[in-house]
Formats: sequence, C-alpha cells, structure tokens
Amino acid sequence: MSLAATAEMPEEFSFSDADFEALARLARAEFGLSLAASKKPLVYSRLARRLRARSLSSFHDYMKLVDCADEVDERLELVSALTTNVTSFFREKHHFDTLRDVLMPELAKQRRVRIWSAGCSSGPEPFSIAMTLLDGFSSLPPDLRILATDIDPAILRRARRGRYPREDCSAVPPPFQSRWLSPASGEPEHVEVSQDLKRIISFAELNLICDWPFKGPFDAIFCRNVAIYFDQDTQQRLWTRFSAMLRAGGFLFIGHSERLSGPAAHEFATAGVTTYRKRVLPVSAQPT
Ligand SMILES: C[S@@+](CC[C@H](N)C(=O)[O-])C[C@H]1O[C@@H](n2cnc3c(N)ncnc32)[C@H](O)[C@@H]1O
Repeated sequence: MSLAATAEMPEEFSFSDADFEALARLARAEFGLSLAASKKPLVYSRLARRLRARSLSSFHDYMKLVDCADEVDERLELVSALTTNVTSFFREKHHFDTLRDVLMPELAKQRRVRIWSAGCSSGPEPFSIAMTLLDGFSSLPPDLRILATDIDPAILRRARRGRYPREDCSAVPPPFQSRWLSPASGEPEHVEVSQDLKRIISFAELNLICDWPFKGPFDAIFCRNVAIYFDQDTQQRLWTRFSAMLRAGGFLFIGHSERLSGPAAHEFATAGVTTYRKRVLPVSAQPT
C-alpha cells in the first residue's frame, strides 16, 4: 500500500468534541433528535455541505450561526441534513390493509373522519391513505380530512405539488394508478396525483416536539419512521401526546423499527404489527 493511501487526510472543517456536544444539545432541545457520540463522523459528513454553503471553516462557527435567533431556515437545514425524507407509496402495506379492513367499516358510520400523517415527508403516505379511503367508502363521510404535517418546509412544497417520478409509483395498485395518477404536464417521466386526493388533505408545517395548534380527536395517526430519530424521553412524550389526540378505539401506526414504550403503552392494545389501538377506559377510570 502506498504512503499516500495510508496517510490520514486532514479534515476540511475542524469539529471538536465540544462542538459535537453543543450540536447534540441543540438538536435534542429543538427537534428531539438523539445524537450519540458514535454519530460524530456521520454528523460531520451530513453537515459539511452546509458549512460549504455558508462559507464557514469550522463547526464552531456553524454552531454560533445556528444559535442566532433569526437563523430559523438554517436550523431547518440542520434537521433536514440529520434526518432522512425517505418514503414511498403504500410503505408497510399491512397498515393500509388494517385501515381498509378494520377501521374503515367503523369510519363509514361516522359523519366526521380525521386522520393525521405526522412526519409525512414528500406526501406518498397521506396520498396512500387518501387512495385507501376514497376507494373503500361507498359514499364519502361528509366531513373527511387528512392532516399531513412535517417539520421540513421544502419537502412539504413537494408534497403539495404531488408530482412523482413514474418509477416511484410502482407500489400503487394499477386500478388506483389509472384512477388517480395522470401524466404530469411538462415532465414526461413524472405523474401527478389528482385533485380528488389533494382536496381532502391539508399539508402543514409542524415540529412534533413543539405545541400542536389543533385539538383532534383523530380516528387514526400514522407516525412512521419519524420517532426513530428521537431519544427515548421524547419518544415516550410523543406517544402520550398521540394518545391524548386519539379518540377511544383510534389507531396509532408506527414505523417497522419503532416500539411503543413508557406510560402511554398501557393506554393502547396491540392490534397488529406496529399497530396500536387506544383502549376504551372503563367509566370509573375516565378523567373527570
Ligand atoms: C423517513 S421520513 C418518514 C416519512 C413517512 N412517514 C414514511 O414512513 O414513509 C421522516 C420525516 O420526519 C420528518 N421529521 C424529522 N424530525 C421531525 C420533527 N421533529 N417534527 C416533525 N417532523 C420531523 C422529516 O422531515 C422527514 O420528512
């Protein structure tokens, strides 16, 4: 092996342990993100492009920058760099089967139906929910809404647009493709979801660890592959807050590598793989 191959390359940006700890504190306090010390190299590689974009030479300077009150956008860039937006249509399909087979027969009797896709990324999740609902109801509940939220305003712009590369839609069942996907004007390799789906979804920016400006109750919450980035305390607080937002008997769908834990776990019964149903409390145990 040549000397050049074994010699350590100097890093482009200095990144001390103290800088990493300051960054981990900020990521936890503002976004609930859990950054163990072992993630330092990953954090370096994910954020290096932000330092280049802001013409900075060290993580120390980057921390000073993101600490400024008016650097809201840079803090969003930070969370976006540290998490992923990976998503797909009908991801973890068993959740959509449960929605159709177990929950929808109940929802069909309701006037008002509310479903929340929390951490919706670029939109395939709420659009998959919308397709399942519109296909399954013989007549639509008069007051049917899907709330789709994410912390990342750029990803929400893509979600609202509802345009996707054609090959990203292969998991959409063919009858749903012909009903709700059409060629996107000016982009031959893309398709666009129809207004019928967009009409029942409200997209909104929301940091899940901050206050939620709505009351619910929801019939179901999909929060999949989001809490995985949070430390355990933040996850457990989130499950408790979701429980408070669900009606009795409402469903919580979480990601394949997530688990319900902490005080809220007693408020739910397991209803399938990574699927939980809020228990109906006996009258004596209900809050007065
Ligand atoms: C991996 S995607 C999951 C998308 C979708 N739920 C799914 O399972 O396909 C994670 C999403 O969580 C969002 N996210 C990360 N931290 C968040 C927070 N504190 N509040 C709200 N959304 C957050 C990210 O912006 C990203 O779009």
